[in-house]
Amino acid sequence: MRKNIVAGNWKMNLNRQEAVALAEQVLAQLPAENSTEILFGPSFVYLHKIAKMCTDNTHVFAASQDCSEHESGAFTGEVSANMIASCNAKYIVLGHSERRVNFKESNQVLKTKVEQAFANNLAVIFCCGETLEQREGGVHFDWIKLQLTESIFHLSASDFANIVVAYEPIWAIGTGVTASSEQAQEIHAFIRDLIIQQYDNDVAENTSILYGGSCKSTNAKELFSQKDIDGGLIGGASLNATDFVAITQSF
Ligand code: 13P
Repeated sequence: MRKNIVAGNWKMNLNRQEAVALAEQVLAQLPAENSTEILFGPSFVYLHKIAKMCTDNTHVFAASQDCSEHESGAFTGEVSANMIASCNAKYIVLGHSERRVNFKESNQVLKTKVEQAFANNLAVIFCCGETLEQREGGVHFDWIKLQLTESIFHLSASDFANIVVAYEPIWAIGTGVTASSEQAQEIHAFIRDLIIQQYDNDVAENTSILYGGSCKSTNAKELFSQKDIDGGLIGGASLNATDFVAITQSF
């Protein structure tokens, strides 16, 4: 059975006081019967603090937004997967388009980062998605297949159980333009089918596939009602506790 997951990617927003206040507000507003897995994705700087705030809630965890491809050593400013694990995070988000584009992260580098995460018992939210030009050029299916093939399809089926895939069309991120539920469902079904081909039906049925890109409280229900959409990776709307909690309750 795949899990419903709603992950907030706070990106480079919120100072320490604001981050703590946001986590407090979300935790206070969550209904007691919540069964969705909820993730906070703060800056590395507050990861330990935010993870600690989640310890009393069985469904809320912390996720880091990235990790180094290196295990340790002379890499000034980098943060290793081991450091992240020691802060009690549960997940690492890898392959976000903002990292791929702004920091030139290739599929090969991301493969190494996934291995670092797994070596430290962290689960991975692996992001993929196409540009508007790629979609208009009709190469988006091939592009997403390549992203998954080169970074995560080498994993064993048992390791793949610790992968969550996030489909984030770049043209929908922070733009206010959301993929229609049909467009999102089409890609999610395609990704699940690739997992069936690479592994088997069981693995595919147990893999959560999240949608990201201008997902908000007003469109989450429609998106999450699609057969292959198991939740969301939320940017802007995760910075407001009321909106974020509403999204977590949109299944
Ligand atoms: P927005 O929800 O702000 O479009 O961001 C999506 C995203 O990048 C989540 O990782």
